Amino acid sequence: MADGPVTGGISHPDQVVYVVDFGAQYAQLIARRVRELNVYSEIVPHRITAAELADKPPAALILSGGPKSVHVEGAPRLDPAIYELDIPILGICYGAQLLAHQLGGTVGRNERGEYGRTTFRRAGVESSLLGEIPTEHTVWMSHFDAVSAPPAGALVTASTDNSPVAAFEDTARGRYGVQHHPEVVHSEFGMEILDRFLRNEAGLEANWTMGSIIDSAVEAIRDQVGETGRAICGLSGGVDSAVAAALVHKAIGPRLTCVYVDTGLMRLNESDQVVETFQKHQGIELIHVRAADRFFDRLEGIVEPEAKRKTIGEVFIRVFEEAALGLQDAEFLVQGTLYPDVVESGTSDAATIKSHHNVGGLPDDLQFDLVEPLRNLFKDEVRKVGTELGLPDEIVWRQPFPGPGLGVRIIGEVTREKVAILQHADAIVREEIRNAGLEREIFQSFAVLADIRTVGVMGDERTYAHPIIIRAVTSDDVMTADWARLPYDLMERMSNRIINEVDGVNRVAYDITSKPPGTIEWE
Ligand code: XMP
Repeated sequence: MADGPVTGGISHPDQVVYVVDFGAQYAQLIARRVRELNVYSEIVPHRITAAELADKPPAALILSGGPKSVHVEGAPRLDPAIYELDIPILGICYGAQLLAHQLGGTVGRNERGEYGRTTFRRAGVESSLLGEIPTEHTVWMSHFDAVSAPPAGALVTASTDNSPVAAFEDTARGRYGVQHHPEVVHSEFGMEILDRFLRNEAGLEANWTMGSIIDSAVEAIRDQVGETGRAICGLSGGVDSAVAAALVHKAIGPRLTCVYVDTGLMRLNESDQVVETFQKHQGIELIHVRAADRFFDRLEGIVEPEAKRKTIGEVFIRVFEEAALGLQDAEFLVQGTLYPDVVESGTSDAATIKSHHNVGGLPDDLQFDLVEPLRNLFKDEVRKVGTELGLPDEIVWRQPFPGPGLGVRIIGEVTREKVAILQHADAIVREEIRNAGLEREIFQSFAVLADIRTVGVMGDERTYAHPIIIRAVTSDDVMTADWARLPYDLMERMSNRIINEVDGVNRVAYDITSKPPGTIEWE
């Protein structure tokens, strides 16, 4: 977690809702739901104090769920002085229990918890938070403790079989609680409850829209870069750097120069597409560095995956640095950092499984000030901004692609010949996935070329050639993934086309390993 409200990047609207994170799995989801209701929201740690909030009070607070019981020692609390500030508060799950616990109600330990689908029954009273939503409906629960008496002065507005106080409200003091998770799709009328809290109880307007996101980002970039400042941006072909560049270009026009390093390890026609999109369509000044020879020369004889990654990373930095040095007067470097990267807890003590290399991973002595216009945005918002700025679907909806490119999808030594084989096979995989309408549903789909040869027979002739492995995975968060259950006829089409159309391949296999224990990439 960041240590305080996350600011910088883009200036946000005057009205912000803070989601106070008590260790929930769903804090980010709550923040996204609020934004979907066109109200800007950010996540703040539960240690936040009244003094920190008093400076620029948020329009409302939403207390998230969390894994602890309010009764255990060290359970996270909200600074009690925050309750003295006149800010409307909605508690969800642990957040609702905390309101009861800190404000004169009680939280009991149940005989059993409630997990999953649960029937929510409204009490026969009018409720400002629940409005006209049906008397009985299904909600999604995940709790053991339950509120047995609401905060002093609050009205009980709903119950379930195991939660006598499934919802409460104190409209005079602006405090509301629900035991269930209105933010998850399985909870019926969840969005209505959040919407009513934002509009009716917190008096917020729906003004966090695509237009306002772009306007505030452009304004913040102009403030940071000034009237004469110049910026450079490394384009990788991925959506984040592309949208960041398009936004900065909108803000400072020709004072932005993009650098695209062609490593020779990109997918088929990808380099042409990046150059075409940015130079021709967006009218952005672009330096296209054709560095494939340098990468192939340095990769000669290297087989070990980490050695390959390090080599590609090093050459990349050198090439980028040389291009950047030619732009002496640029003092800003644009990066496509997203909001989840900013709020996610650090993983500094996690084991290094693979050393990742990104376009931004430049040495400190380059001395740039960073411009990070996507720092407050979620990925889905970044895609919408990209579309709004006129970037093509192929870039806006591009699947993640590793920094070292096809270099980590060729097992063994990387050569031009192998890259050509893999590019061709990979293009077929992507085309067939797209034709089957699965491109957005599948998190990543690609081909891998193994450094082995197997025997086959084609037209009465013995063949001895490489296999291609198809990898297609579904994933929500990259940390875990499952192999995609692709339709057999789709697999058949991919296999037939690869063997018929790609010289040097005589066999196709499908990777059925989840992550863990596998990783998504083969190296
Ligand atoms: P693994 O293979 O570790 O990959 O399961 C997880 C995700 O990260 C992508 N990936 C990279 N992305 N630089 C990147 O920007 C890299 O060096 C890199 N290596 C892997 C991979 O494609 C998957 O989405």
